Amino acid sequence: MSRSLVPIALPDGRSYDIRIGAGLLGESASWQGLPRAAAALIVSNTTVAPLYAERLRAQLLAHYLRVDVVVLPDGEQHKDWASLNTIIDHLLGQALDRKTVLFALGGGVIGDMTGFAAAIYMRGVPFVQVPTTLLAQVDSSVGGKTAINHPLGKNMLGAFYQPERVIADLDTLDTLPDRELRAGLAEIIKYGPIADVGFLCWLEDNLHALLERDKTVLGYAVQRSCEIKAEVVAADEREQGLRAILNFGHTLGHAIEAGLGYGAWLHGEAVACGMLLAADLSQRQGLLNEQAVLRLRTLIERAGLPVQPPRLGAERYLQLMRVDKKAEAGAIRFVLIEGLGQAGLHAVPDELIVATLEAHGAA
Ligand code: NAD
Ligand code: GLY
Repeated sequence: MSRSLVPIALPDGRSYDIRIGAGLLGESASWQGLPRAAAALIVSNTTVAPLYAERLRAQLLAHYLRVDVVVLPDGEQHKDWASLNTIIDHLLGQALDRKTVLFALGGGVIGDMTGFAAAIYMRGVPFVQVPTTLLAQVDSSVGGKTAINHPLGKNMLGAFYQPERVIADLDTLDTLPDRELRAGLAEIIKYGPIADVGFLCWLEDNLHALLERDKTVLGYAVQRSCEIKAEVVAADEREQGLRAILNFGHTLGHAIEAGLGYGAWLHGEAVACGMLLAADLSQRQGLLNEQAVLRLRTLIERAGLPVQPPRLGAERYLQLMRVDKKAEAGAIRFVLIEGLGQAGLHAVPDELIVATLEAHGAA
């Protein structure tokens, strides 16, 4: 199985590589050339640490005098101040200095929290993303968005802070539960309608192989997703405009996650359903035809992702979406598809949102 490397170009010497391939975790080359330090800290959780932390620690001991491991509770509901404090408490309690390198070993929850801890500890220490879920390999480990949740809104506290490197070892996906694999597919599917209709066609042709975990096919899906994301992030690192397209499906998705309570639906599941509703809104705005909406729905269904949003009620959805980061002056803004392969940010009137929610039995 071939290896690939996707560069991400950023100013001020902050460019870095995303390395993708099977077996990378156990290879010394993966860990060479990172910032020098006396200590490293692996941050992981109760599920991932028993699987991979010792293997990573053994590799890192060739580069650092000391390698600690902090194990956090698993789950989106723990992406909070308490978990963040556990990381900071360890760093301060062990008097780890400002050169200490943090390694985020896990899915997007661990990646987002570790990145945030790295951004704020002593005003910033280096960190490396070692994503072990499909979702983290294709999206969350790339691009430097770090955050924790607040009960009133998802990812509301955080920072833009880029990693030194991303090591996406495809072999770690062997232990990923099927439901988590499918959640990762949601973020992969996202890249087709927003940026690359050719990739959408490829996904339609290769979905079965992806669900079967064919490593070559998975490798290409991770690579192409990272290439698209790297291009968008290089053009608009701090989401002044273009980067918002990566949030296709997220406005409603985040509302579902917060509305049901974090962890009830997986992030990827909520995004999948959110994409469908955003496609419906795109059609109502005259930007997308019915055939394209159906095509997206079929792919999402084939991936085993939910197409029926929970019935939270229209008022609750609107309330939740008004705290979305893309909202401006109380107006809810959605990433809409402007023909397959192109997307943009649009303010959408409440009546239209309610119509979409009603049409999907969610109002
Ligand atoms: P997750 O981190 O909760 O991981 C999913 C589950 O899989 C967890 O139970 C985890 O312990 C387990 N797991 C991880 N790797 C495993 C492995 N190799 N084998 C077995 N089990 C494994 O969820 P996720 O889907 O990876 O990430 C979702 C999070 O990412 C959300 O909080 C979302 O907001 C965030 N996110 C961030 C960005 C960003 O740009 N920063 C982008 C997309 C999503
Ligand atoms: N996942 C959205 C972003 O990175 O901008």
